[in-house]
Amino acid sequence: MKTVIVNLKERSYKILIGSGLLRRINDFIGSLGDMEKIMIITNPPVFSLYAKGIENQIRKNYKVTTAIVPDEERAKSLKWAKFLYDKMVKEKMERGSLVITVGGGVVGDLGGFVASTYMRGIPYIQVPTTLLAQVDSSIGGKVAIDHPLGKNLIGSFYQPKQVIIDSDVLETLPEKEFKNGMAEIIKMAAIRDKELFSILEKKLYTISQDKVLLNKVIFRSCLHKAKIVEQDEKEKYLRAILNYGHTIGHALESLGKYHTLTHGEAVLIGMFLAAEISYKTGVCKKDVMDRQQNLIRLLGLPGKRLSFSIKKVMEAMERDKKVKKGKIRFVLTKDIGSAIIREDVPGEIVSSVIKNFFQ
Ligand SMILES: NC(=O)c1ccc[n+]([C@@H]2O[C@H](COP(=O)([O-])OP(=O)(O)OC[C@H]3O[C@@H](n4cnc5c(N)ncnc54)[C@H](O)[C@@H]3O)[C@@H](O)[C@H]2O)c1
Repeated sequence: MKTVIVNLKERSYKILIGSGLLRRINDFIGSLGDMEKIMIITNPPVFSLYAKGIENQIRKNYKVTTAIVPDEERAKSLKWAKFLYDKMVKEKMERGSLVITVGGGVVGDLGGFVASTYMRGIPYIQVPTTLLAQVDSSIGGKVAIDHPLGKNLIGSFYQPKQVIIDSDVLETLPEKEFKNGMAEIIKMAAIRDKELFSILEKKLYTISQDKVLLNKVIFRSCLHKAKIVEQDEKEKYLRAILNYGHTIGHALESLGKYHTLTHGEAVLIGMFLAAEISYKTGVCKKDVMDRQQNLIRLLGLPGKRLSFSIKKVMEAMERDKKVKKGKIRFVLTKDIGSAIIREDVPGEIVSSVIKNFFQ
């Protein structure tokens, strides 16, 4: 087992990474001190696959109840947050009780949000079961639900007490979801880790089959995320580099009403174009763009089956949270493993790069 520590003074916590960790969950919970009551929050598929087994183990040592919310993004709503609050009140959950979220980013974001607001905050543990949740959403304490007018509009920063990453659970993850997580790993390598990027270039296809390599890739991604969160927990500046590929990506995702493209596909296109913008604005050399675009093609760049007008894409980017005082914030790569934030990227370069891609 490998451990990454997220160092945030009194809010510090461990990320535990390895194979077979779920079998040891009682030891990990025990290391946090006395917990009288535990509520597991999960969804139907993950309940059958993993949360039921976790519940059975925990029951040996603790009083446990399980709340099941629907699968997919619709669970990140006030309606399902209320369902959880109601259940917590009914079960007499207290300040010293513990929430354990078992699932992907949806369950983690919703469960973390409810834990952050119930009785002004009770402790929670993240047990992420998608690759995206393992390398990204379970770390850093961004918890949220959606508003009908926008994703993640209602939320807070609330760090978990522990993150337990058992890579064995990825064996049941559909390929499409694995790719979503790989898109975030490529992002992390492109902005922070040249060596990880080279590993991905050489071994992208073998990662899902090679446990040692998979654990290493997850570990390195978590380590970088932890370091970024430590330096800028509330996303005042540095943490924004994690939005690499997301400026254009989010615009495409929202224009497609979150159905046309998966989040991972949108981020892959977003990074493909951000690399080109980095080159066209003179921020990086051609080789830096080429290597990123080749790796993205290797994972699978979505076909150009999209027909968004440039005007619509530019407007969607301007509506996004990444706009500061009317200026679109772009994360660009200077080199493989090194990123900068720019607010002065000429609109003509952005629109011509997007136009060329979709033509
Ligand atoms: N908090 C953050 O910092 C942050 C960062 C990135 C994304 N997010 C959020 O994360 C969410 C997306 O998360 P996601 O990509 O994990 O999607 P998800 O939670 O919807 O999970 C994807 C699918 O995989 C299933 N699943 C989960 N684990 C499985 C397993 N081991 N085997 C088989 N199936 C499994 C789920 O039931 C679901 O159908 C979005 O709501 C996004 O806003 C949050």
